[in-house]
Amino acid sequence: MKWANTYLTIFIPLIGLISCSLNDEDFLCGYSSCPTTKEGYINIHLVPHSHDDLGWVKTIDQYYYGVHTPVSNVGVQYIYDSVLNSLSRRTDRRFIFVETAYFWKWWTEQDEVTRTDFAELVKRGQLEFVSGGWSMNDEATTNYQSIIDQMSWGLRRLNDTFGKCAHPKVGWQIDPFGHSNEMASIFASLGFDGVFLGRIDYQDRAFRTYYETMEFVWRSSQSLGASSDIFTSVLYDLYVAPTGFCFDVECDDQPIIDDIESPEYNLHTRAQNFTDLAFQRLLSYSTSNVLIPMGNDFAYQDAEMWYKNIDKLIRYINNNTFGGYQYNVMYSTPSCYVKAVHEETKGIIYSGLNTFDFFPYASNPYAFWVGCYTSRPAIKRFERMGNNFLQICKQLSALSNQKETEKLNNLREAMGIMQHHDAITGTETQNVTFDYARILDNGLSDCREVANDALRELTKAVHSKFTTCPLTNISQCYQSEAAKSLVITVYNPLERNVTKYVRLPVTGRAYRVRDPSGNELPVQLLPISSAVLNIPGRVSDATLELIFPAYDVPALGYRSYFMEVIEDEDRVTPVGVSSKYFSTNMGVDFDINEFGFIGKIYKDNLTMQLKQTFQAYKGSTNNSEGVSGAYLFNPITSEPDYIIGDADGVVYNGELITEIHQRFNAWLSQVIRFYDNENFIEFDWIVGPLPTNVTHGTEVISKFTTNLKSDSIFYTDSNGREMMKRIRNHRPTWNFSTILQPPPSNYYPVTSKIVIEDVEENIQLAVLTDRAQGGSSLKDGEIELMIHRNTLVDDVLGMGEPLLEYAHNQSLVVRGSHYVLFDTKNNIFEQRKIAQAKLLDSWVFISSPEEYSLEEYRQKFSMEFSALQNSLPDNVHILTLEPWRESTLLLRLEHIFAKDEDPLLSQPVTVKLNEVFAAFNIVEAKEATLGANQWSEESERLKFATPDGEDVFTESEAGIVELNGELSVLLNPMQIRTFILAVVSK
Ligand SMILES: *[C@@H]1O[C@H](CO)[C@@H](O)[C@H](O)[C@H]1NC(C)=O
Ligand SMILES: *[C@@H]1O[C@H](CO)[C@@H](O)[C@H](O)[C@H]1NC(C)=O
Ligand SMILES: [Zn+2]
Repeated sequence: MKWANTYLTIFIPLIGLISCSLNDEDFLCGYSSCPTTKEGYINIHLVPHSHDDLGWVKTIDQYYYGVHTPVSNVGVQYIYDSVLNSLSRRTDRRFIFVETAYFWKWWTEQDEVTRTDFAELVKRGQLEFVSGGWSMNDEATTNYQSIIDQMSWGLRRLNDTFGKCAHPKVGWQIDPFGHSNEMASIFASLGFDGVFLGRIDYQDRAFRTYYETMEFVWRSSQSLGASSDIFTSVLYDLYVAPTGFCFDVECDDQPIIDDIESPEYNLHTRAQNFTDLAFQRLLSYSTSNVLIPMGNDFAYQDAEMWYKNIDKLIRYINNNTFGGYQYNVMYSTPSCYVKAVHEETKGIIYSGLNTFDFFPYASNPYAFWVGCYTSRPAIKRFERMGNNFLQICKQLSALSNQKETEKLNNLREAMGIMQHHDAITGTETQNVTFDYARILDNGLSDCREVANDALRELTKAVHSKFTTCPLTNISQCYQSEAAKSLVITVYNPLERNVTKYVRLPVTGRAYRVRDPSGNELPVQLLPISSAVLNIPGRVSDATLELIFPAYDVPALGYRSYFMEVIEDEDRVTPVGVSSKYFSTNMGVDFDINEFGFIGKIYKDNLTMQLKQTFQAYKGSTNNSEGVSGAYLFNPITSEPDYIIGDADGVVYNGELITEIHQRFNAWLSQVIRFYDNENFIEFDWIVGPLPTNVTHGTEVISKFTTNLKSDSIFYTDSNGREMMKRIRNHRPTWNFSTILQPPPSNYYPVTSKIVIEDVEENIQLAVLTDRAQGGSSLKDGEIELMIHRNTLVDDVLGMGEPLLEYAHNQSLVVRGSHYVLFDTKNNIFEQRKIAQAKLLDSWVFISSPEEYSLEEYRQKFSMEFSALQNSLPDNVHILTLEPWRESTLLLRLEHIFAKDEDPLLSQPVTVKLNEVFAAFNIVEAKEATLGANQWSEESERLKFATPDGEDVFTESEAGIVELNGELSVLLNPMQIRTFILAVVSK
């Protein structure tokens, strides 16, 4: 993004000036700035806010600048200007800002006077940042690593600019479509005191308003226990101002008229009306405090309109009684509300402890917002690739002396944007999708330069150009296709050695690949399936892929391989055979029944019936019964149609890999892969262009049918971390009525994994995904994942378009993978290792050997590198390693096992920090909260608990700092600890 490119050079000096002019004693922000509540009164906290999507029906820049489009004229830049003016007029007025991306865009454009005025308001607590991430991220389809990154990046900007007055204290997740445990757990680890939710299931909401359980303590992680507890408040009626009280230029509501002489006078009835509705809300909450959001989407372009009217209401209501009650109406903020509830309850919340998440989200019986778990599968995959490369780029830049943080920032910020609840979800228009792809692509290009520079330094091949092949997803790579010889450098971002099967499109018929010691590696040449060859937009002469196993690529490091064409030889795997029964030497045997499906798999002494099929639901277009759209999934009938293949699979049997190529119809094909020495089966599917000459939407699923007795139970992951138990047609916290729509109401977000297990025998089936998808187990023994969808209509939730994705002038073709494991129930480690290796895949960089032979190349350059001194324990993951400030690095260590998941690996583990890295010496390590915007020792949370004493919140009991002379760090199950390291190169 252009604006992000320039801020560092131009504006840093100004920021410096401002933060210097503020003394700590001057800070009136935080809880001490909150308005006072009154005993015996109904305390109404009015929260002026604007919900500013980072792209939706307009692009980010169109929203920011207010580019007029047929769908909207709003301009976010004016909101900042206007709120600043209005707050400067009266000191009791308040406002909250949420996303940092828009704020930063505005801030970089301001002069010093404006910045000082703005900073002054932050310092006085009139302007408060809540959440503070780069975007208000989705909670269903996002991976925890990217959530943590995007929160940290926003929080860092805020802390850099305003210091501690801009340490948000609450999460403001008022629009995402359902809520995850992992997100709540992240908020707790960020040091937040509370979280506000907008959207929970309509039935859940009805029960909660009735039973007064709209507020509760959320124990968001079973493993982290009480330290993951966070006070949670569900907003009464989303985040919009009450009906009749939207005083926005974009609203039609009447102003408040307080001139008693005027024939238009309405102050009394309006005040009456307002207190009535406030009283109504009070009944659903358990203290004297009620939070009323005074805002809307993109509201406050003309802030004075809001404040002028609200000022009048406040004055009048506070000076009168209504229905015998006295009201104390005040401008407030969500954190001031939390503080007021804490004071009144003394931190004891009677509605008890919640341990469940809020999926799936339905706003009425016909509106399950579960289509968006799958919508726009290509951008969902692109986002995951973005994370993969961002982590590699950060690591490479931390491990070398690269100072190109600006270029790194572009991808950090692009990934922050991608997490937005209308970005990765696919609930944005097609044009906005293209814009997200543009932004992410720009970020990736910049990071490729960072990686190139870092690799030049690490390999000492300073004249080489290390490129990547961004189009290997369509088996296209001009570098590998044309070359007679290449240096292939495989970088492994994980803390353990991994074997990576390198796969490159080529045009030759025989290749030799050698490792740095000159050992020749096994190589296989397999035909690229015709479905891939026909992907629209593919421009390549390659019809074969070269595959070789890069064995044991060093942890947090790389190894380079030499690849050469062997002229006049042909080593292509013999032509495929059509076969019904097949036995491999790969730990799994299989046979294919008459439709080309797998019939049975075996492993060790386990046997399972497994059939994989593709099926498609017909998406409804009938508005009276709910439709399928970008958000919603509403099939016409509960049973999907089979998609039957027209041929047996063609099998290519090789030493490294056996592939079965299947074609089901003109828009659906698949390659099933069995790898030597890998414990999973890969299903590489290609779907699209979906039919459009039909009268319904097409929503395609891949279904795995087994003989496991799963007893209505299945498990899905929470943002790629802890597993959540799901029970078909059941909700854990209320009496669920399933009048309608069994498939949608049983759909859950699968960010990375879905599992079923046999209730009697020790066997389970796990399907790992390469992007977020909707999934379910609608019958015992079954798992289904929705892989692609189109809809003929819009689902009337504001996006305004049917979901008809296209690229290259035709309906979009999507390629993706499922990794299927079956094993005994306790082999979680294998699943985790594979999930990690897919999320943080080793990256292939390509360069030219120039005129050197392998021998000469090895003499001259460094072909192998690991940043680690010692391997880490199996249950420890280096979640983050990135350059942070001048000579400091940000490091996050994560315990990757949940409590009781594994007898050994679920134990607490100690890491000796100064024995981990070979690349640098740690001079100092200081622990920070998860967002790295404040030191752990400074962070103090409000304690909320339930009446029974055992639930008492304990200040990160699970993570006592143990940084003694040895810098040893204790990690408990599922714990993430964040350090800022001062380092010097070795
Ligand atoms: C927060 O920002 C201040 C300057 O505003 C800086 O001194 C401090 O080190 C930052 N905190 C962290 C944890 O980086
Ligand atoms: C209060 O507002 C609602 C919604 O605008 C309206 O239907 C109702 O008539 C109003 N009541 C009074 C007393 O103004
Ligand atoms: Zn939104």
